[in-house]
Amino acid sequence: MIEKTLAIIKPDAVAQKQSGPIIELIELNKFSIIRMQKLQMTEKQAEQFYAVHKERPFYRELVEGMIKGPVIVMALEAENAIAGWRELMGATDPQKAALGTIRWMFGKHIGSNATHGSDARETAQNELKFFFPDL
Ligand code: RTP
Ligand code: MG
Repeated sequence: MIEKTLAIIKPDAVAQKQSGPIIELIELNKFSIIRMQKLQMTEKQAEQFYAVHKERPFYRELVEGMIKGPVIVMALEAENAIAGWRELMGATDPQKAALGTIRWMFGKHIGSNATHGSDARETAQNELKFFFPDL
């Protein structure tokens, strides 16, 4: 089934000029980039975006990490895009990410893991709308 998912290249990866190779991997893996924008998230936006993690010990670190510089947000479309993009990203902890995945290549540690991806149909729809209200 053709799905859409939200992908974000996080500030550390953007700052380290890794967005080019990450976007190349996205296209080589046959995702269509149907929207793309570089933007600076506000603290409020980041808090709202990660509200599900509000009670987690790493919440503040997560919010700070997302606002330390611009991000690149993309709406990706493909067959099984949600699981497919998470597979291409690899495990949350770059130390556990499989060889060849984006987090294996570009992640530094769990708090600096290069990219974000929606985790399910409903969250994908909400996250896409958050940045691209027309979707
Ligand atoms: P994401 O939402 O960014 O695509 O990552 P994910 O689904 O693989 O992981 P999730 O559990 O949703 O966690 C969101 C982000 O929080 C940071 N995190 N830090 N210090 C920690 O123990 C810890 N655990 C998670 C990661 O940057 C993760 O991407
Ligand atoms: Mg997540």
